Amino acid sequence: MKESQPSAIYLKDYKVPPFLIDKTELTFDLDEATTVVTSRLHMRRNPLDGKSNAPLILDGGEDVKLIGVAMDGYALPPEEYQLVDDKLIITATADSFILTCETLIEPQNNTRLEGLYRSSSMFCTQCEAEGFRHITYYLDRPDVMSVFTTTIIADEARYPVMLSNGNEIERAKTDEGKTVVVWHDPFPKPAYLFALVAGDLAVKNDLFTTQSGRDVKLQIFTESHNIDKVDYAMEALKRSMRWDEEKYGREYDLDIFMIVAVDDFNMGAMENKGLNVFNSSCLLASPKTTTDDAFLRVEAVVAHEYFHNWSGNRVTCRDWFQLSLKEGFTVFRDQSFSADMHSATVKRVEDVSFLKTAQFAEDAGPMAHPVRPSSFIEISNFYTLTVYEKGSEIVRMIHTLLGEELFRKGSDLYFERHDGQAVTCDDFVAAMQDASGIDLTLFKRWYSQAGTPIVTVEDTYLPEEQRYLLTIKQETPATPGQPTKLPLHIPIRVGLLNEQGQEIQAQYQGEHSTDVTLLLTEAEQTFEFTQVSSKPVPSLLRSFSAPVKLRYNYTADQLLLLMSADSDGFNRWSAAQQLAVNELTQLIEQASSGQPLAIESQLVAGLRSLLADESLDPAMVALILALPSQAYLSELAETIDPLAIRKARQFLKVTIANALSEQFAQTYQNNIITSDYQPSAQDIARRSLKSMALSYWSETSDDKVKAAIAEQFANADNMTDQFGALSIAVHSAHPDAASMLNAFYEQWKNEPLVVNKWLMLSASQDADDALAVVEGLMAHPSFDLKNPNKVRSVLGGFGQNVAGFHKEDGSGYRFLADQIIVLNKRNPQLASRLCTPLTRWKKLKPELSVKMKAELERILAEDLSKDVYEVVSKSLV
Ligand code: TRP
Ligand code: ZN
Repeated sequence: MKESQPSAIYLKDYKVPPFLIDKTELTFDLDEATTVVTSRLHMRRNPLDGKSNAPLILDGGEDVKLIGVAMDGYALPPEEYQLVDDKLIITATADSFILTCETLIEPQNNTRLEGLYRSSSMFCTQCEAEGFRHITYYLDRPDVMSVFTTTIIADEARYPVMLSNGNEIERAKTDEGKTVVVWHDPFPKPAYLFALVAGDLAVKNDLFTTQSGRDVKLQIFTESHNIDKVDYAMEALKRSMRWDEEKYGREYDLDIFMIVAVDDFNMGAMENKGLNVFNSSCLLASPKTTTDDAFLRVEAVVAHEYFHNWSGNRVTCRDWFQLSLKEGFTVFRDQSFSADMHSATVKRVEDVSFLKTAQFAEDAGPMAHPVRPSSFIEISNFYTLTVYEKGSEIVRMIHTLLGEELFRKGSDLYFERHDGQAVTCDDFVAAMQDASGIDLTLFKRWYSQAGTPIVTVEDTYLPEEQRYLLTIKQETPATPGQPTKLPLHIPIRVGLLNEQGQEIQAQYQGEHSTDVTLLLTEAEQTFEFTQVSSKPVPSLLRSFSAPVKLRYNYTADQLLLLMSADSDGFNRWSAAQQLAVNELTQLIEQASSGQPLAIESQLVAGLRSLLADESLDPAMVALILALPSQAYLSELAETIDPLAIRKARQFLKVTIANALSEQFAQTYQNNIITSDYQPSAQDIARRSLKSMALSYWSETSDDKVKAAIAEQFANADNMTDQFGALSIAVHSAHPDAASMLNAFYEQWKNEPLVVNKWLMLSASQDADDALAVVEGLMAHPSFDLKNPNKVRSVLGGFGQNVAGFHKEDGSGYRFLADQIIVLNKRNPQLASRLCTPLTRWKKLKPELSVKMKAELERILAEDLSKDVYEVVSKSLV
């Protein structure tokens, strides 16, 4: 272990920057061996700082070599500056001056994928959150906003495309024949939004005319072999631009908007001003190589990054504790966009299902933190589901509390007040409050309190008085560092159904309505409905109006009623899930105590009528048919017994499959599409139902299903159907599964994104020697430890491999820990994210828990990056 461990920084210690940088002029002399970066920073003391003699402290990195530093042209001798802990400190400075800094970096050796690095044959950058300091010394914090001019010098033969933020303003040749390109971005921005790309890239051009009639040039760049896969992203970009104008009144500001796809990228994509950089997995799409899910992800990520131009770039974060200011709001915006483009209910179910599985698990684990954290060791660890997804839920609740119109007034005020500024979550809420006149003081606790509230509902019906009372309690469990919790302001949307499933027109607070939003603000409150003509079945938390765990003792009959009749589509899904969870909970009990599994399933009846109802959206039917996932059931469990959960799910699936075998075969046939592939909501819906039906059908002994799977695999004209058939073959132990996997690899070995899917599926297959299979994949010619997508495919796939990963002897955990230790040095961000499954050790059954904990301890004994250290040390507390 290291002598001194990395320390935390705190929100409460925030101070304004002592210096400002009005202009930033950068010159990059790009070369395969070393890249020389020259910066000219036009600096002055910050009038808001008050002190007149604070030293200048610039952020740097261990991988940045300082060649020289000068002030107003005077080269500083070594005794006039200090280099301490990657910081460049200059004690004596004027009130305003130009600082010139020359640094040397080696992008080709940058495996962290932060700062300037190489991906295949190109140079690219990733500066959020604190990557810019790996390029040159700077005030690398989001509240220092500067106007950037960037000069790129490179060999045009190898790097014909040279890009940075803003507009290209100059192009020339040096005496040595290199090309010089100058870019200027007129909008002041923090360094995290800086970007540079250089390479031999193909481009697709398009045009967008804004609502005010300005033409914006749109360009998507990829390596030439991928340029045939950007049409969908380009169309998605234009839809996003239009939507932001119509929905938020936000028009694009520069004359050019560029997107570049790179293969090696730590995250999904990055919203650099005017020059978004994308993980190719979130940009490239074609029917033959891309599944429906991936098409939808491309659309959502293109929209997300585009929307950041206003929510993030024009108005940015004061400090990184405010990350959710831009991320929560932008996720809310991209979710609303996707809802408008496709089915709103389907989108809501998918988003909530993800939140309840992954964010709730985070909120219940050792890394639980508020949406606005109050401290961190490494900010990269806080690009979390809590900041993004729960952050979006907070914005959605504000939308629910204000309504569409006042919410828009609030967002207009927010953008108007803070354009060009770096602000806080409080500023966002203040704009919403001021524009609407609705008091959000109590509501703000959502930002500072971690953990998922548990909302318990009890009801009483008084037939003589036709009154119906709902008593609602809230309680938030303790989280690390927050032992006691306060009540939150929780909007709970409620409808009442009578026993025939019709909506009851009750009175609430003097108004007749079939759908009301109750405002829970105390630990316990009773809400009264009057003129309630019969005993209601409450439809609670409609559309998932708040990110809470709802407890109400529904009978199976009530759940079946809601499932078939609720006017809230989301709650129909939710009722089916609850019914399945109830049945699975019994089965899991039986499995973990070694009893034979048996269930009188009531879900079957509900699913039977569901399959018979042709008026329903096939996508909703597919979602309702999907059993609660292994991961969601693990989140719900007090103690996780992975194999018992798997066995219970499998048992219920087979039970349903056998009971409804003919319906599944029929549903499969009915949803075969004969026209050309389209990633439209309608066709995606039918393919998802077809695939769900095939998956159930594959669990029956009907001998026709094996042929159907093989046929679909061989003849599919699109990746959704081909990969769908392959996954079902692999997970249902189809006799041809192994040969299909091989054929799939042979067919697609030149398409890296498809190979990644093959890697993931291969790593997840149930096998006695699962670990050996995974080790084989990591030695496979298609594998590359430098590429985060490949690492995530194999290790992510292995994480889904219930028996292989959770092997009793701990070998699965040991293997993952070994990979984390290797990656800790090469790519700390990636290594840290891979730790997530290990952080759940406390909830595992004791035999497994000790094995997992031992691996965390083994990792902690290594010389760790801040990233991995923070996650592992906090997990062991
Ligand atoms: N701001 C990016 C987004 O949400 C996230 C991101 C991209 C990121 N690359 C990163 C965060 C690297 C941390 C490190 O769209
Ligand atoms: Zn984002």
